[in-house]
Amino acid sequence: MRGALRTGLVLAAAAGLAAAGLAAWNPLPLAEWLRDPRASFLTAEGWNPHPAPLLRPRPAPLSAMAQLGKKIFADTSLSSSRRLSCAACHEPQTAYGPGGALPAMFGGPALTRQGVRAVPSLMYLERQPGFSIGPDNPEDEAVNLSATAMRSRDAPRAGKTVNSADGAAGLVPQGGLFWDGRADTLQNQALIPLLSPFEMDGGSIAEIAAKLHRAPYVEAFVQLFGPSVFADPQNTVAEAMFAVARYQIEDIDFHPYTSKFDFWLEGKARMSPAELRGFLAFNDPRKGNCAACHLDRAGADGLPPLFTDHQFEALGVPRNTALAASRDPAYFDLGLCGPFRTDLKAMTQYCGFFKTPTLRNVARRRTFFHNGIYGALQQVLDFYDFRDSSPQRIYPHTGHGAPDIYNDLPPRYRSNVDRLDGPFGVKPGAAPAMDAEDMRDIIAFLGTLNDGYRLPGGT
Ligand code: HEC
Ligand code: HEC
Repeated sequence: MRGALRTGLVLAAAAGLAAAGLAAWNPLPLAEWLRDPRASFLTAEGWNPHPAPLLRPRPAPLSAMAQLGKKIFADTSLSSSRRLSCAACHEPQTAYGPGGALPAMFGGPALTRQGVRAVPSLMYLERQPGFSIGPDNPEDEAVNLSATAMRSRDAPRAGKTVNSADGAAGLVPQGGLFWDGRADTLQNQALIPLLSPFEMDGGSIAEIAAKLHRAPYVEAFVQLFGPSVFADPQNTVAEAMFAVARYQIEDIDFHPYTSKFDFWLEGKARMSPAELRGFLAFNDPRKGNCAACHLDRAGADGLPPLFTDHQFEALGVPRNTALAASRDPAYFDLGLCGPFRTDLKAMTQYCGFFKTPTLRNVARRRTFFHNGIYGALQQVLDFYDFRDSSPQRIYPHTGHGAPDIYNDLPPRYRSNVDRLDGPFGVKPGAAPAMDAEDMRDIIAFLGTLNDGYRLPGGT
């Protein structure tokens, strides 16, 4: 399903980031690299043999709107507990993801209501396309969701391999915000945590508007939106969320592209042997095959890779019994087909599908996957490696000693789980796709995706 990234940008145009449009998929000659006579030199020295400059957003001072948004983002007074702001869950020091190791955060008036999903990073959403279901083809904007979803129900599932540029026909859900893609713009999205009783629990729109009226930044608010902004609470809150979205779009801190890997792509940094081996295993269809979904190639126009194809997949991660919601045996988070998203409920072929997240800064996280089931990257790698080859290592046992495979999905939806794409698809008992060293190397490589790398002797 490798195709060009879609052009239906929600966020980037406003940011002036991607005026160039998105690049066609540029299959990188990995196999060629390995045949390259310089490959041995490459492994020894760790330089990229095909460096090319990257097109990064240029840092610019924040507009008055974005500055206001930054204040709102950090304002705890908007929550009923007066202790939660956006930044409390999306901490700037940890890539705007959770600072701790909890699988989900606590919110509500006394911070006792546990959320049901892991807090994602807010970085690199500036090129996130809007939600759609359609052929993996940027020219073809599929808009009629239920009609296209209906058609896709019986379509053969296309597999994903790192270096196959074509991809079989198939209708692919992609894009949007949240693990289930249910919000399309940062502005609409921000209202959800603000109102959610499990999160900031801000109360009614009228209450939030009243809090904004009392906020220390009220003057800036009036200056930007005019004195009548408080006349209509709906409008007040919408403008506030617009400012929060501007902040996330304008502040380079959300998308700096300053990882070691970015500099390596440009020929300015070199990888250690373990990082380089990890990069190769990450790309190798017979090993990690990670890059099939977590795209790692720069676009032809120099746009840096985002380590996601923006698509949804069902990986069948195990149920997380540390989440209070899981204590109810009837509760299932089905991602695209509910419970939070409601428009695709009948599209049961998508039950269990979650958005492929970026892997940039992933090594800064301490909780992984939509339900926060894992606390370390080694556990994530074990999941990919052993889910099919040794499921007894991944899932709890049923009464009869057999593993309860895909136990976070009702049995009727378990056939939705991806068994085609490597590193999955190995027969039980067969050798897994990666060995222990491949996994260690891939973890070392993932460490090169943290932003803020300082070039030796450079800036
Ligand atoms: C109590 C913790 C908490 C607070 C407070 C919070 N969020 Fe979140 N945020 C989450 C969780 C959990 C998710 C994922 C929810 C889901 O997928 O259904 C999320 C998702 C998001 C996303 C989508 C990211 C993606 O990758 O799709 C954005 C954007 C976002 N939050 C911005 C904000 C803003 C802006 C605020 C303040 C108005 C805020 N959040 C407050 C926990 C929080
Ligand atoms: C078929 C597509 C696909 C392949 C192949 C794939 N991933 Fe993923 N990855 C996903 C999806 C989808 C999720 C989110 C699943 C969920 O939360 O239920 C994910 C989540 C992750 C996460 C958790 C990120 C977070 O913020 O919680 C990590 C880490 C990760 N993948 C690494 C890898 C590595 C390493 C490989 C190769 C060994 C790999 N992935 C192969 C689709 C894929």
